Amino acid sequence: AGEWILTLTAQTPTNIAVIKYWGKRDESLILPVNDSISVTLDPGHLCTTTTVAVSPAFEQDRMWLNGKEISLSGDRFQSCLREIRARATDVENKEKGIKISKKDWEKLHLHISSFNNFPTAAGLASSAAGLACLVFALGKLMNVREDHSQLSAIARQGSGSACRSLYGGFVKWIMGKEENGSDSLAVQLADEKHWDELVIIIAVVSSRQKETSSTSGMRESVETSLLLQHRAKEVVPKRILKMEEAIQNRDFASFAALACADSNQFHAVCLDTSPPIFYMNDTSHRIINCVEKWNRSEEAPQVAYTFDAGPNAVLIARNRKAASLLIQRLLYYFPPNPETDMNSYVLGDKSILK
Ligand code: PMV
Repeated sequence: AGEWILTLTAQTPTNIAVIKYWGKRDESLILPVNDSISVTLDPGHLCTTTTVAVSPAFEQDRMWLNGKEISLSGDRFQSCLREIRARATDVENKEKGIKISKKDWEKLHLHISSFNNFPTAAGLASSAAGLACLVFALGKLMNVREDHSQLSAIARQGSGSACRSLYGGFVKWIMGKEENGSDSLAVQLADEKHWDELVIIIAVVSSRQKETSSTSGMRESVETSLLLQHRAKEVVPKRILKMEEAIQNRDFASFAALACADSNQFHAVCLDTSPPIFYMNDTSHRIINCVEKWNRSEEAPQVAYTFDAGPNAVLIARNRKAASLLIQRLLYYFPPNPETDMNSYVLGDKSILK
């Protein structure tokens, strides 16, 4: 008697920043030096599925990632668990005859199982989807009544970019002003239907893990790059306003110009860091060249590119026609090759090119 288990499963896609977050003003609360804007991928692509379970039979909190147990002792996991538990409310499941009071949540332990539907080793942003999904699933299980923005502030403490995956469509992470981080949260700028002609293609240039983690890379940039200071104060605030306008107006020419310039400035900040950080490789540079030349040969830009803390290209095509021309070009200039490890994940229509 008294043995029961309550479970809940949630799925969260990752997000790709078009105005980048790079640099923290507070490392433990994860407060950024500038606002950022991202697009959340469609559900089903590059996403994390997380099942959370609670039972009086569990003796401690435990977590498995892709079937392998991982430690929950890190500060970031602990912050998320603590913040969510503090907001838990009464839960009643009449079907199973389970009643959990607000107080019970303090004593009950959780088991968490998370799967990424894409190769975790590919160096594609997985923490964003993972931490957002964890916070969302726990919030639902524990009947947390906070809205998505407040949940985003909790996910932020797990991984900065995770706060933007609580919403679909276009999302802004507002850096906030408060020292305790209460106003550093995500808001939705436009929903997933607003600009659904866009097609996102991820060209996997290398599946090797990055050498410099975003955490240590950001720390080094904040400590040594003057360009980062200039970017955060003078460049990004204006770019954010222009990007919001481009998104509202579905103005692809402005969107592409801003996204490409911002990706390039982020990588310039990495180069301006001492010692310099190289996330892109020769293939990444060739992809940039190829897109720039193509865009310039057309009346209007067809594709935007953006690169995170790794060499893989995220390409955003203005529509399906541009996407299929892009794939033809990618296959022609970068034929699939086990040595370069060049694969393309096409995210508009579920197909994966290899
Ligand atoms: O949240 P983190 O620590 O994974 O940092 C992400 C940083 C970038 O992906 C490079 C940029 C961004 O805004 O997502």
